[in-house]
Amino acid sequence: MIIAIDGPAGTGKSTVAKSLAKRLNFFYFDTGAMYRAFSLLCLNHAIDIDNEEQVKKLLDNFNYDIKDLNGEKHYFLNKEDVTQSIRTPEVTSIVSKIASYPFLREELVKIQRKFGEKEDAVFEGRDMGTVVFPNAEVKIFLTANPEVRAERRYKEFQEKFPEKSSTLSLNQILEDIQKRDHTDATREVSPLKQASDAHLIDTSQISANEVVDCIILKVRDVKKKLKRSLFYKVIRFIAKCFFKLFFRLKVYGVENIPKRSCIIASNHASFFDPPLIAVSCPYEIHFLARSSLFKNRMFSWLIKKLNAHPIGMKANDRKTFKVIFSILRKNQKLLIFPEGARSKKGELTPIKSGIGFIALKSGASIVPTYVDGTYEAWPRNKKFPSFFQKVSCMFGAPISMEDYKHLEKEEAIQAVVEKTEKSIKELQQHFKNKIKK
Ligand code: DC
Repeated sequence: MIIAIDGPAGTGKSTVAKSLAKRLNFFYFDTGAMYRAFSLLCLNHAIDIDNEEQVKKLLDNFNYDIKDLNGEKHYFLNKEDVTQSIRTPEVTSIVSKIASYPFLREELVKIQRKFGEKEDAVFEGRDMGTVVFPNAEVKIFLTANPEVRAERRYKEFQEKFPEKSSTLSLNQILEDIQKRDHTDATREVSPLKQASDAHLIDTSQISANEVVDCIILKVRDVKKKLKRSLFYKVIRFIAKCFFKLFFRLKVYGVENIPKRSCIIASNHASFFDPPLIAVSCPYEIHFLARSSLFKNRMFSWLIKKLNAHPIGMKANDRKTFKVIFSILRKNQKLLIFPEGARSKKGELTPIKSGIGFIALKSGASIVPTYVDGTYEAWPRNKKFPSFFQKVSCMFGAPISMEDYKHLEKEEAIQAVVEKTEKSIKELQQHFKNKIKK
């Protein structure tokens, strides 16, 4: 789950986000710290920050890392701990300008999204809910009146840099905050703005703890909606016992499946593949099924309960895409057989381009998946399965769409398709050479 917290400086974003992450045991990611670290790099190289070319050149020198030391996040720029030095007034005075460069935002957003693909996290920044994670499950926009915010920042500054506190007045901080709000809110790329589906919380009169409590209530609501249905759980358990008992099911690579929405892309050789993948995946999976299967009312009720969604038979049917994107937008996992149909003899067949289009448009990563033995267990031309064949399911490393977004649309689709096909083949080879032997 992603919790996106946005808002201007001094609204208590960091305090709230940190404490929220701690209470939920989520990863905490302060995206402002990244823009600050890059600003520090500019200061260290004494470049002219208005010269875009000079700023651009520094991208190659930007090695950023986050480490957890004694429960606190520490930020590293080229291996140096810069947790304190990114908060100085010098950095603060240039960070808005630096953060307005589109090429820089593009690079940093890539890193932020990659982190978000992996784990449950609280992200704080200015464009989390609008640009970086438009599908975040919970979006919060914090606000507070400028005077309150300036006072908070003044106090923070006095605590962090007591030796410098006489050099900065409350008024200066207020002016700086207002200037920064203006730059952040009026820049062309990813301006600071409340997402239409974000919850607005005014923190002027309430404590950080109260804000956290309020967000936790919203998180609980969302979790309730996402909870696995008991019916799915029971059927999955029975099916798993069936495959283990009668087909000696083995599963590999479950750690590769991201917690967030993704497309599970598997080879397809048998009717057994969808249930086999469903019992192998520790998370609930959604399926696409021919609409003709939903004609019988009882059967339709059953498969709908098991997350099957009816689709038309044409590959580029608009309704089909609507169904697919609505599943992925809700942060669910979707099983797709990119070869289009069951293979005739259990072999891998070339995959179709649709998966590239879907993944790039939705931003969901693809988990290449290889199923083995299902053709032998229940091939296309047999009415009944042959029991006691061995079946296996292997999940590979996820393919992130962030690595393809810089390409032209058609080129990106082609590259994603090739990578998916190659990954499934590699899983097959790995399985045959290292595991099956
Ligand atoms: O939250 P902060 O004050 O540390 O942020 C520093 C600056 O970085 C702020 O001026 C806005 C900018 N920023 C941004 O443009 N986008 C983000 N996601 C986070 C911060």
